Amino acid sequence: KKKLILDVDTGVDDAQAIMVALAAPDVEVLMISCCHGNTPLENVEKNTLRVLKVCKRLDIPVHSGCSLPLLARKQNAGDYHGKDGLGDVPDPDAPGLELLHKRNAVKAMIKIVNENPGEVILVATAPLTNLAVAVELNPNFPKKLKALYIMGGNTESRGNTTVCGEFNFVADPEAAYIVLDRYTCPTYIAPWEFSCRNSLPSFCDQWLAQKTEKAAFMSKIACLSMKKAQSADYQKEITEGKGFNSCDTYAMAAAVDDTFITESDEVAVTVELQGTNTRGMMVLDYMGLLKKEHKAFIMKKVDLEKFKQMFMNSLK
Ligand code: BDR
Repeated sequence: KKKLILDVDTGVDDAQAIMVALAAPDVEVLMISCCHGNTPLENVEKNTLRVLKVCKRLDIPVHSGCSLPLLARKQNAGDYHGKDGLGDVPDPDAPGLELLHKRNAVKAMIKIVNENPGEVILVATAPLTNLAVAVELNPNFPKKLKALYIMGGNTESRGNTTVCGEFNFVADPEAAYIVLDRYTCPTYIAPWEFSCRNSLPSFCDQWLAQKTEKAAFMSKIACLSMKKAQSADYQKEITEGKGFNSCDTYAMAAAVDDTFITESDEVAVTVELQGTNTRGMMVLDYMGLLKKEHKAFIMKKVDLEKFKQMFMNSLK
């Protein structure tokens, strides 16, 4: 079985990605670490537990991670995901935070990876603060990972948060810089423009029409963000206009299925830390001028039929 650690800021597409991981065959989710991001940390924790509850997987340890970026001003994506991060639909039966595990997320991650050297795949769908702290605390941590999958960054300076920047990288540029610099394990990145280009026009209705508790949950929490996505000008420009864009799920799908990525660029990457409009923007060094040995795989094309199948299974 593949051993996964998920680092999330649950948000609607994180919820979708978690559900895809839980439904994937031959995958074991060892723990989930929470990070600030789409919504403040406490909401991330609550939302993660809500997702696990509907999947009947509250046995998976959920740990509390960083509540603030390393240096950047704290921000969230409440406009898109809702103030509570999951579409602002009240849930009187939400599990309480007493279910959170006591150990700090970063320490828990390090412990599990040390106990399973070379076996753990880390999937990061949040700002990269927890991962940056992990490598500062334990410089050998990345060497012991089997692979790292990230949703974040951009390839054509089409931002979704600033002019040039994608949310996860803009929300903690220093953390993204540290991770891209110091994680020398095989690294796969699903950037923003890639996810827009591979969105799924007219798939949602069919996906959500399944008569299950999970589908009812997803229909409720995704309603707000789907309306926002369909009306967003930035997305119309590079998709058919009605794309269903679950960015985080691309990174997750690639982590659970090695045949999912069908085309990628292998290139050294870093993050711009200064600049009036460019702070947080991912920079791709195609000419090798940075002399970085480690290169990441930037996802370009994926098997969308497989993707749909994973989505369908996730709500069964
Ligand atoms: C990323 O930012 C968040 O809003 C999403 O959850 C995704 O991780 C897209 O830029």
